Amino acid sequence: MAMFARPLLATLLLLPAFLLSAASAADSKSNPADELVALINSNRTAGKASSVSDNQGLGCIALQYIKAYEGHCDQVDDKKPMESSFTDTFAPTCGVQATTLSKITGRLVACQSQYLAPAEAFGVLLVNDAKGLQILRSKNHTEVGAAVSGTDGGGPYFWCVLFSDGKPTTSFKVDGEVPKAAIHPGCFSGNNDDCSGPTNGAVLTSAGALRLVTAILFAVAAL
Ligand SMILES: *[C@@H]1O[C@H](CO)[C@@H](O)[C@H](O)[C@H]1NC(C)=O
Ligand SMILES: *[C@@H]1O[C@H](CO)[C@@H](O)[C@H](O)[C@H]1NC(C)=O
Repeated sequence: MAMFARPLLATLLLLPAFLLSAASAADSKSNPADELVALINSNRTAGKASSVSDNQGLGCIALQYIKAYEGHCDQVDDKKPMESSFTDTFAPTCGVQATTLSKITGRLVACQSQYLAPAEAFGVLLVNDAKGLQILRSKNHTEVGAAVSGTDGGGPYFWCVLFSDGKPTTSFKVDGEVPKAAIHPGCFSGNNDDCSGPTNGAVLTSAGALRLVTAILFAVAAL
């Protein structure tokens, strides 16, 4: 009996480390804003438009654009943040050099009380009519930034995609790293941001991780 006890003990001791690494591996792959950009590019290329570069500076600005609504879901259809916000607040918050701001050539913004996975948010909320499809597939765009955000850890959930005609390598340039204050709550594309948990908008991911943990605990109990 004692011969079996030791490997089991080792397994139990190693388990937390394994669970932690499994959880963080899941996090880095679960950025809904990055997923949105992948959907945008596959739809563009299917429509014979070029794919657009994912620019983290523009992605961070898309998240500040969402935050400018201060949770007012009903305003996304008819109100836009002032143009001056880009230079006055969005760029400085994101550490984007003001001189590298480029023209915004299109935007897709949506909000609703329930969280939707990226594919649904794309088809149901962001690109649901001819106008949306025209913005999505415009040949004017060269780069994109996307963001997804809940407000204060819950709904309403906002989705924002900004397109620009800037040169991907030289526009929306971030000095060093994007400041922490610019990040959570919410997720933006282009920086491999860790985006699990309801505070960051990706509620489905944390439910998935929890199921994984539960499954492993059951497997251990069965030994
Ligand atoms: C592109 O998006 C539009 C709008 O959501 C959809 O109708 C169309 O089927 C999509 N095309 C592809 C190839 O994904
Ligand atoms: C592309 O840019 C041109 C020039 O700014 C503009 O007139 C045109 O409407 C844009 N096309 C689309 C599809 O946005």
